[in-house]
Amino acid sequence: MTQEWRVALITGGAGAIGMATARRLARDGVVPVLADRDAAALAAGVAALQAEGASNALGIPADLSDRDAPRQVMDRIEAAFGRLDVLVNNAGLSRARRIGEVDLADWDAVMAVNLTAPMLLAQESLRFWQRQRAGSIVNVASRVWVSGAGPAYTASKAGLVGLTRSLAVQLGPLGVTVNAVAPSYLASGFNFPGQDEARRAAEAEHIALGVLDRIATPEDVAGAIAFLAGEEARFVTGEVIHVCGGAQLAARPASRAVTEGSAP
Ligand SMILES: NC(=O)c1ccc[n+]([C@@H]2O[C@H](COP(=O)([O-])OP(=O)(O)OC[C@H]3O[C@@H](n4cnc5c(N)ncnc54)[C@H](O)[C@@H]3O)[C@@H](O)[C@H]2O)c1
Repeated sequence: MTQEWRVALITGGAGAIGMATARRLARDGVVPVLADRDAAALAAGVAALQAEGASNALGIPADLSDRDAPRQVMDRIEAAFGRLDVLVNNAGLSRARRIGEVDLADWDAVMAVNLTAPMLLAQESLRFWQRQRAGSIVNVASRVWVSGAGPAYTASKAGLVGLTRSLAVQLGPLGVTVNAVAPSYLASGFNFPGQDEARRAAEAEHIALGVLDRIATPEDVAGAIAFLAGEEARFVTGEVIHVCGGAQLAARPASRAVTEGSAP
């Protein structure tokens, strides 16, 4: 019998990109399972998804910096659905931006959520891949893996791209694709309150697609994730899709490129 529905785990599912991804995958007929440490936002997100028609949507409260959480989350999915088709490693954390301010507690906290949890979730999801011999993992990295920003955040996201490439090689024989998306700055709870307008304007300067007069949206990122999680990307693995409007290419603000001679 052909499996008619699929199940996706989206970590950090209650956040901006997480909810946009859940909505987008639900539209594709995928059951969204959200794992998040913010229990109130999680309950609200799942209720919204159910009200919108994703009646099987499930929320799993979990702090993924806890080393046992990935196994517990996968146990819940096993009990509820008996299968997993898509793992979206989206939960993320940023801390001190300057090297002089980094302390080890911050460094460890960022690595635990951004890098160690995706590795453990991939490990715990092996049970599904071995049985189903198909699936996809999409890791949410960031433009900073090429452009650089705070030390822990940048190192964790560059590490996540490395993990993506490792898992693509190791899980390919099980029919599992492993890719990453790398968004540029977008307005979400993830960014520091009060910095949004100034940051937005500064970021917009780097966007090659400036004609659109906007920064990235959660829906832009969700679209790339849905593509990588879908049938049309079955032969795509080990890749990074930048969802940056070209900002990953800009060594300087795009608005100055014309006067400085590098624009057509
Ligand atoms: N917002 C941006 O500008 C931007 C840019 C590039 C990449 N990203 C990446 O996108 C991802 C999602 O970010 P967002 O913009 O939707 O932010 P967000 O703050 O709206 O969502 C992040 C979610 O992750 C959850 N989370 C954090 N730590 C957790 C933990 N230990 N266990 C479980 N859940 C945890 C939070 O509760 C929150 O719901 C992150 O990995 C981030 O690094 C964001």
